[in-house]
Amino acid sequence: MNEIKKTINPISIPTKKLYTGSQIPCIGYGTFGSDYIPAETVSETVKKAIYSGYRQIDCASVYGNEKNIGEVLDEIFKSGFLEREDLWITSKVWNDMHDNVVESCKQSLKDLKIDYLDLYLVHWPFPNYHPPHCDVTSRSPNAKPYIHENYMKTWRQMEQLVEDGLVKNIGTSNMTIPKLKLLLRDAKIKPACNEMELHPHFQQPELFDFCLKNDIQPIGYCPLGSPGRPERDRTKDDTVDLKDEVIIKIANRLNVTPAQVAIKWAVQRGQIPIPFSVNHFFENLEAVVNVQLTENDMKEISNIDKNCRLIKGQVFLWKENQGWEDLWDLNGEITPA
Ligand SMILES: NC(=O)c1ccc[n+]([C@@H]2O[C@H](COP(=O)([O-])OP(=O)(O)OC[C@H]3O[C@@H](n4cnc5c(N)ncnc54)[C@H](OP(=O)(O)O)[C@@H]3O)[C@@H](O)[C@H]2O)c1
Repeated sequence: MNEIKKTINPISIPTKKLYTGSQIPCIGYGTFGSDYIPAETVSETVKKAIYSGYRQIDCASVYGNEKNIGEVLDEIFKSGFLEREDLWITSKVWNDMHDNVVESCKQSLKDLKIDYLDLYLVHWPFPNYHPPHCDVTSRSPNAKPYIHENYMKTWRQMEQLVEDGLVKNIGTSNMTIPKLKLLLRDAKIKPACNEMELHPHFQQPELFDFCLKNDIQPIGYCPLGSPGRPERDRTKDDTVDLKDEVIIKIANRLNVTPAQVAIKWAVQRGQIPIPFSVNHFFENLEAVVNVQLTENDMKEISNIDKNCRLIKGQVFLWKENQGWEDLWDLNGEITPA
């Protein structure tokens, strides 16, 4: 791609070794265009991101752009720029396909025009369908709570995908410690990764430590505090990571941007950030190699956690008079049905 002037040599991007032996790049490129970035724009940026040095792409069937991304991947592989093995590709099964995981995975493979995924995630632990672009008050009449027996039926299909060679690693997303404990107890194949919201104002230290202790690699979504997130995911109490005075102070001292500080904090802490960006993707990748935070910077950032969850998941609530907190098992036990 001629218009890509700035590149980072992918060899300089560290990888993390999963318990399965797979090596995952320590930063990925997110592909959720927050409902308003067209699929063609996202896929064109995936192309630019790959040419600029990204080697991990975070996809999901519900993002509605896997077909467009597949066209781009096909073009890149056919050009000989890189081989399939040079890229880490993640996808996720959406909530209305928990009973049809194999079918859903095969559709993602077909759309992405590849024959295996490096990582396949259960996007949410709730099988509750809600229509794309719905607002925060939308509820499914068939909504269900977390039912472990049902989740395990979904997980067995995830395991089947590994056994059939369609997927190299399987993992979870939007899980809590009590749910993960049950999964670790009952899984034949343990999750290799857990994708979870992680940014300086929402560090989830207990879940993060639990994952590390159990050899589950945390992948951090909304690593910049998702400044472009849809209206349904905004509340008046939300805080803004990139305007935090500690982040700005460190950025000014190092002569880098606040976003670069947030990205490098994530990498140095040990999670894998997957920022989405049409306009700043190079800046984010560059942070991994060109920014170095001191121990004191890391400590200062650990102190600005505001426990500010942005993606609260209200649409997954299953009965009247519940609060979004019920989805996240805040008292350490799975919220009863
Ligand atoms: N597993 C899940 O349930 C789940 C949930 C949410 C998200 N995700 C994944 O995580 C990815 C990232 O999350 P996200 O997109 O919500 O949040 P994010 O990456 O924190 O924020 C993306 C927004 O930040 C802006 N941005 C990016 N780099 C910037 C920079 N250097 N300076 C200033 N602004 C910058 C982007 O605008 P520009 O385009 O203008 O740069 C975009 O509006 C998603 O794309 C998706 O792949 C997963």
